[in-house]
Amino acid sequence: MPVLKGIDLDIHDNETLVILGPSGQGKTVFIKTLVRLIHPDSGSICYDGEELLTLSHKQLYRFNDRIAFVFQNSALLDFLSVQDNLQLYLLMHKAISPRDLQRRTLEALHFVGLDDDVLDKFPEELSGGMRKRVAIARAMVKRPQYLFYDEPTTGLDQTNAEKISELIKMLKKEISATSIIVTHDIKLMRDVADRVALLKDGLISFVGDRDEVSEQMLDFLYE
Ligand SMILES: Nc1ncnc2c1ncn2[C@@H]1O[C@H](COP(=O)(O)OP(=O)(O)OP(=O)(O)O)[C@@H](O)[C@H]1O
Ligand SMILES: [Mg+2]
Repeated sequence: MPVLKGIDLDIHDNETLVILGPSGQGKTVFIKTLVRLIHPDSGSICYDGEELLTLSHKQLYRFNDRIAFVFQNSALLDFLSVQDNLQLYLLMHKAISPRDLQRRTLEALHFVGLDDDVLDKFPEELSGGMRKRVAIARAMVKRPQYLFYDEPTTGLDQTNAEKISELIKMLKKEISATSIIVTHDIKLMRDVADRVALLKDGLISFVGDRDEVSEQMLDFLYE
């Protein structure tokens, strides 16, 4: 059975678009499809007029350089320290001096509100909220043009969820990235979205400005 059923969605430069929907509606499938982690059976995904689904290996490599993805489970590499998690991408893909690497690492770490002593820790030594911050810092280190977040507040208490909302807003200003967030969290949507798309049963039932999302639409979405 198809998970997504004919989605047609434009994303504007520099906006924060929240795709809101209850559990199991295809949010993760959708956001992974947008970055070619999942290949759709049919359809088209264009970035600045360029078709993502037919990019060559080399073009895909360049595309990956422009995006960062904060996964639903943070997806830090358990066998690497926080420092190595933050630096892995730049070390593998960029000619960067040790000094610049350290500067960018610390800048991102401090930006998400973590101290230097976290650098030598391993992901399993961190709380869920701290892991999420490290995942956001790892995305920031890359300085992407597009930032993708899958359920950034899931599993966090209200205080930590609010801190993550704040970080998402601050990070967007800091690196002026286009942010695409999928979530079931109405509060997060109200806090960070410029525009909202409502996703239910694999279909987008509404796209518009945040203020246009009515209680009635939300009742229908979550009924
Ligand atoms: N790689 C995949 N290919 C095809 N179908 C998938 C894939 N991953 C998940 N699915 C199916 O797609 C449906 C939607 O799953 P998805 O994980 O996208 O939901 P979700 O909206 O992200 O839910 P949650 O809020 O629990 O994270 C499920 O029925 C799931 O089994
Ligand atoms: Mg999901």
